[in-house]
Amino acid sequence: MATHQAALLTAVGSPLTVQSRPTPTPGPKEIVIAAHSVALNPVDYVQRDMGMFIENVPAVLGSDLAGTIAAVGPDVTQPWAKPGARVLAFATAFYARGAPDFGAFQERVRVPAVFVTPLPDGLGFREAAMMPMAVGTTWAGFHTVGHPRAGTLAAEPGKPPAMLVWGASSSVGSGGVQVARLLGYTVYATAGAANLDYVKNVLGAARVFDHRSPSVVDDIVAAVQEDGVSMQTAYIGAGDLAACAAVMARVKPADVEKAMIASAPLVPPGFEAPAGVEARFVMAPTELEARHEFSAFTFNQWLKEKLEKGEFVPSPGMTFVEGGLGAVNGALDQLKAGVSGTKIVLDI
Ligand SMILES: NC(=O)c1ccc[n+]([C@@H]2O[C@H](COP(=O)([O-])OP(=O)(O)OC[C@H]3O[C@@H](n4cnc5c(N)ncnc54)[C@H](OP(=O)(O)O)[C@@H]3O)[C@@H](O)[C@H]2O)c1
Repeated sequence: MATHQAALLTAVGSPLTVQSRPTPTPGPKEIVIAAHSVALNPVDYVQRDMGMFIENVPAVLGSDLAGTIAAVGPDVTQPWAKPGARVLAFATAFYARGAPDFGAFQERVRVPAVFVTPLPDGLGFREAAMMPMAVGTTWAGFHTVGHPRAGTLAAEPGKPPAMLVWGASSSVGSGGVQVARLLGYTVYATAGAANLDYVKNVLGAARVFDHRSPSVVDDIVAAVQEDGVSMQTAYIGAGDLAACAAVMARVKPADVEKAMIASAPLVPPGFEAPAGVEARFVMAPTELEARHEFSAFTFNQWLKEKLEKGEFVPSPGMTFVEGGLGAVNGALDQLKAGVSGTKIVLDI
């Protein structure tokens, strides 16, 4: 029996430990990837420490990876899905409730082909591993608030359409700025002072605001009014839902019934949005077939095209941690302690 190394969660609340486990073969419409690089997300340490949605241990965690295709299962129809192809993938550890074949933190990862994107030459594995959760969460956010997959929501006549992205230096917020801009929005974004230039000059936000400024709400509202843009949607990567909602209540076009906010962080229980504003927690479709259709759009189609054209770039910055699988547990502690404008990446 073939085996490989994995960072296993053997008990909720304990550190991950590197052990050998059986190497899976891909099922129908699945691919097994030889992982080269992985990136870390907050959900990973939440699952490690609190067992959120972990049904059984041992479990393997992790969502973001890039590597080469090791094996292709039956009925995989994506033409680029051949052994040896360079790919990134959104590993389905979360949806699979920790079932160990599906987590990213191991040398061989079993992934449904709809969650895989082929890499253009020149895009490295480390950079590619930074993208799946950021892109998937952004599109899940737009899905959550009923946004179309192309173009912008109708703006008021004569006013360019604009979107607010709160927490634009976070991983998922930085993806949000890029997707919103590529859809055709003028992007207004908040970030910490040290990351404002990056969000403007690299990610392409039109206007940036320090989320710690006491006048941030007034400043964004004034800018929207001065610039004459039409804003009815916001996406929160990280930060303050109440402040974001306060902006949206004041800029909402009169003929729009509700300004919508897609929040990647949980909407606090009991949160009361101001009149004319609705906030929804970002979720991909929950029904399996719909989720796979959504994922095929996100990863097989949208991201594939944007990478081929060089239009979507890895974001925000990268913090590379040496030490391979054995360093994943400590790197999760580093992420849990808090990062600013950076994604933690390891080779495994
Ligand atoms: N719903 C979903 O499906 C889903 C999926 C993925 C992630 N999430 C959630 O989304 C959140 C972000 O995840 P991530 O991986 O992108 O996080 P991350 O990159 O680790 O977030 C760090 C960033 O958050 C920013 N930030 C912190 N407080 C802020 C505030 N008050 N206003 C604006 N920005 C603030 C910081 O900005 P500065 O340093 O510039 O101040 C920092 O750059 C987490 O809560 C995560 O659990 C949800």
